[in-house]
Amino acid sequence: MRKAVCPGSFDPVTNGHIDIVSRASQLFDEVVVAIGVNKAKASARLFSAEERMEMLEKACADFPNVTVAGFDGLLTTFCEQHGIRAIVKGLRAVSDFDYELQMAQMNHGLTGVETLFVPTSPTYSFLSSTLVKEVASLGGDVSHLLPAVVHGRLVERIAERQG
Ligand code: PNS
Repeated sequence: MRKAVCPGSFDPVTNGHIDIVSRASQLFDEVVVAIGVNKAKASARLFSAEERMEMLEKACADFPNVTVAGFDGLLTTFCEQHGIRAIVKGLRAVSDFDYELQMAQMNHGLTGVETLFVPTSPTYSFLSSTLVKEVASLGGDVSHLLPAVVHGRLVERIAERQG
């Protein structure tokens, strides 16, 4: 059984994430989408871990070999606990590469887990959860960039925060 993890903050999940999960699901028997903590982004979080998990479960419902999980500690510990030897990450542009390479090398050094980079579809190469939140909070239309269920939740949350 070939198993991989697609880790991320997913605050919230975008169509760019779903593109990577979908492609990973065609390469591996089982894919776990794992919601982790990125300390650098923790203070700007819009959705709780439970909310992100619920949105991801709905957004990934059409992929029979994809499950969703959360984790608190190291990604490498999560991989060891779940018998996962491959991490799949999307690369949008060269600007992603430095940090992703650093994490891949650190993770490999910790437990030997491999990281596979999948080039993001050009349709989504500009897309990030951070930008989506900024544009939506200023009234821009981001409905084409998110799963429908996520767009609805984002609009509601921004209205609550601004209300
Ligand atoms: O979507 P993001 O914010 O780029 O995801 C980053 C994430 C959550 C995958 C990364 O920060 C992570 O793996 N966090 C778990 C803690 C950890 O293992 N840190 C060491 C990384 S080398």
